[in-house]
Amino acid sequence: MINEPIFQSHPKADYDADAEEIDAAISRTLKSGWFILGKETRSFEEEFAGFLGVDHAIGVGNGTDALVIALRAIGVGAGDAVLTVAHTAVATVAAIEMAGAYPVLVDIDPESYTLCPHSLSTTIQEYQKKATTGAPVLKAVIVVHLYGHVADLDAISKVVQRHGLQLVEDCAQSHGAQYRGRKGGSFGAVSAFSFYPTKNLGALGDGGAVVTSDPGIAARARLLREYGWRERYISEISGVNSRLDEIHSAVLRVKLKKLDGKNASRRAIAERYHFALQSLGYEVPRVAADVEHVYHQYVIRKKGRDVLKAFLADNGVGTLIHYPVPVHRQPAYQDKVWRTELPHTESAAREVLSLPMYPQLTNLQADRVIEEVKKFPAQAASSA
Ligand SMILES: Cc1ncc(COP(=O)(O)O)c(C=O)c1O
Repeated sequence: MINEPIFQSHPKADYDADAEEIDAAISRTLKSGWFILGKETRSFEEEFAGFLGVDHAIGVGNGTDALVIALRAIGVGAGDAVLTVAHTAVATVAAIEMAGAYPVLVDIDPESYTLCPHSLSTTIQEYQKKATTGAPVLKAVIVVHLYGHVADLDAISKVVQRHGLQLVEDCAQSHGAQYRGRKGGSFGAVSAFSFYPTKNLGALGDGGAVVTSDPGIAARARLLREYGWRERYISEISGVNSRLDEIHSAVLRVKLKKLDGKNASRRAIAERYHFALQSLGYEVPRVAADVEHVYHQYVIRKKGRDVLKAFLADNGVGTLIHYPVPVHRQPAYQDKVWRTELPHTESAAREVLSLPMYPQLTNLQADRVIEEVKKFPAQAASSA
């Protein structure tokens, strides 16, 4: 029997799982005749804010815009510097540049792959020691809850407060993840979400949200997403056009109701992988005691990772590398960022591999992934 290929992610399966409700939501929106910033978006914003335990959510065009608007809403702009990690989607750093600010890169913790509080502290000191007159001034930190694991917010917040900075959470990969019983996205001055179709909460196209409990920041984000308008056609400040469409909002309302259940399915798949792969000697994801992981990605670590990736591809198992080239090594950014040595970032980029992970992945499929990994000859990796 020929085995069907197993995808690394599968947004079509996520649509199929709730097709009837999604179709009804789309049809309702089409029939309403109102397609931009109406009832569906307002309702989704309220429901999403309630889910996270924050006061305000503002729907925007995508997760990158959400970060840019979040930064601008807290007053970050030209002449400012923003600290973040290089082991992230390029969008995190691109957003800092798009807001007019200067990215300063910090190393990651090698166990959680998220921003290391110790490296944050030493990077701030190094940057301030070397900064010449007129250099961009440190204003904020973007912490990325990568792969669905919330960063060490307690330790990070202490450093942030000590230096008078503002905390921004990049929650593009962590919808529903928790830290000490509170949802990621409810800790920073402002947070940004992406609803790209493969995310834990994914639209059927691009989408994003800025969330905050600060009414002033919320009001500014609302102005920024639509030309600085409070009153139509009157721009109070210079803004952009980045709105979450009614159709996406209607779909997201259906999917938000299912998010906890789907995150539980991801955790069950992770447990199945954990158990089998650990006994084969693979480094599997580690979860900090105060974190509830939502496994946007299930990432293993292996020297000779590229050979394993090719072997799995030959055997019908899709994998991805998040991320193969750290941002400070990207052609577009290598000369536009400030950094010291980032050893944990460099080694993660060489060794991480994301296995198939989506809520509809069956036990049979997960077991087949494990079987194919088992067949991988150990000597192939060590000779790579
Ligand atoms: C960590 C992180 N930040 C930001 C983004 C940007 O989101 P979007 O693709 O919706 O612009 C993504 C999505 O790829 C991401 O994974």
